[in-house]
Amino acid sequence: MIEQVDQLYQEALSNLKTAESSEALTSWYRNTLGTKGNIQLLTRQIGQLTKEERPAFGKRINEVKQALQEALDARTAEVKAVELEAEIAGGAIDVTLPGRRRANGRLHVATKTLREIYAIWADMGFQIYRSRDVETDEYNFELLNIPQHHPARDMWDTFHTTTPSVILRTHTSPGQIHAMREYYPEPIRVILPGMCYRYEQITARSEIQFHQIEGLAVGRDITFTDLKGTLTSFARRMFGQERKVRFRANYFPFTEPSAEMDVECILCNGSGCNVCKHTGWLEILGCGMVHPTVLKNGGYDPEEYSGFAFGMGPERIAMLKYGIDDIRYFWSNDLRFLEQF
Ligand code: DAH
Repeated sequence: MIEQVDQLYQEALSNLKTAESSEALTSWYRNTLGTKGNIQLLTRQIGQLTKEERPAFGKRINEVKQALQEALDARTAEVKAVELEAEIAGGAIDVTLPGRRRANGRLHVATKTLREIYAIWADMGFQIYRSRDVETDEYNFELLNIPQHHPARDMWDTFHTTTPSVILRTHTSPGQIHAMREYYPEPIRVILPGMCYRYEQITARSEIQFHQIEGLAVGRDITFTDLKGTLTSFARRMFGQERKVRFRANYFPFTEPSAEMDVECILCNGSGCNVCKHTGWLEILGCGMVHPTVLKNGGYDPEEYSGFAFGMGPERIAMLKYGIDDIRYFWSNDLRFLEQF
């Protein structure tokens, strides 16, 4: 039987040399060393031997098993190396494939519009004055000449906090009082940008939060002519040197007289289109001469000082400029919208 073991060993070794793939090696293992393989089958025949013959047989079987296992390991390493080389040569990894470009972020369309407006006012000598989003009823209304039961309050329904009289500002106008109280008795040239909040039904035309840019100029001998000249200059820088503007009388509690400024439609140049509702004009801001009561509340004597103020909505301006027909796009974070600017 020992001869049989040696014969099997020689056969298995020569078979192993002809195995050239992982699959061939697997089936070689199954036929040779596996539980139903030839070596295993032969081992089971140990019972047919005499007691004296058995130790030599067992020893030889074990030697052969170990030798075959070692031969298999060596052959496996060879075959795997060849297979890997073939795989690389076959182009499974294409090192010439271009990489994936990383998407760049960008500024929000509202931020872009704000910055454009800041730059124009900075050119004209106005600096940015920041004031808080959370205000008291006193600053948001009272000091701006809008007393408790004044019907004008209906224009600015707001969000209340759990602290009585502490609210989210409905406009940037309360910043006028903060700026005046800080700068008195110096002359003032500031713009006051920031987020405003209103308790409103959200529609295509109105949001519960939006930006405003307020402007304030206070000094001696400031007249309505200064207001008109300065705002006209702004409109021309923003919308084009040839742009016509017009002022219409209006009412705001914190200015007297008050007006609204329209610019010639920037899409149709005044000939009439859907955006300007065929009037040829777009309303872009409210303005007026600072009301004496408001000057007084800011610490400036209205007999000595005067000033003008204005307020505009940058999202509204962006809507007009880019033909955006729904204000809800601004804060709904839809990339399909944001990536267009
Ligand atoms: N605060 C006003 C609003 O929210 C806008 C405004 C109008 C501001 C006239 C002004 C102004 O400073 O003079 O509707």
